[in-house]
Amino acid sequence: MNPITIMKMLAVSLLVLTLPAIHSQAAVKDEIAKRLEPVGKVCVQGKDCPGVVVTAVAAGGAPRAADAIIAKHCNACHATGLLEAPKIADTPAWKKRADEQGGLDGLLAKAISGVNAMPPKGTCQDCSDAELMGAIKQMSGL
Ligand code: HEC
Repeated sequence: MNPITIMKMLAVSLLVLTLPAIHSQAAVKDEIAKRLEPVGKVCVQGKDCPGVVVTAVAAGGAPRAADAIIAKHCNACHATGLLEAPKIADTPAWKKRADEQGGLDGLLAKAISGVNAMPPKGTCQDCSDAELMGAIKQMSGL
């Protein structure tokens, strides 16, 4: 590993440590199952489902909007393009990546696994796939 790679890794570790504490892993199995339900079903059951931005139901029962997830977990890097993260609303940059990964589903897979300085799930360990997808769509404008 060259020194620049090590410095990048250190920078990311420091950043991740200073991010707001990740939610406790308290969610019981029921809640997890509920979150994994298809979006359509959640929307039918939920009281408040204003649109595609709302992608899942959080442990408390309130929908977690993409904006909230981005603000809490993705902004730290994607707002400024830190460590060469594609910037929020820079649709061409995201489009290029989507094309390389075979579309939005490919981007989602990379977001879940992490890639280079991009941490797995973008540090949102309790995010469902649908919540991550909502954040990706919102940030990319795709
Ligand atoms: C610690 C910084 C950091 C955080 C926090 C972060 N990202 Fe990233 N992200 C990156 C970097 C850096 C890249 C570019 C990685 C590369 O291609 O080398 C990236 C790339 C991506 C990509 C494109 C992957 C690809 O294959 O091109 C997606 C999708 C993504 N991030 C989603 C998210 C989402 C969603 C969140 C919030 C839940 C998030 N990221 C939070 C740093 C971060």
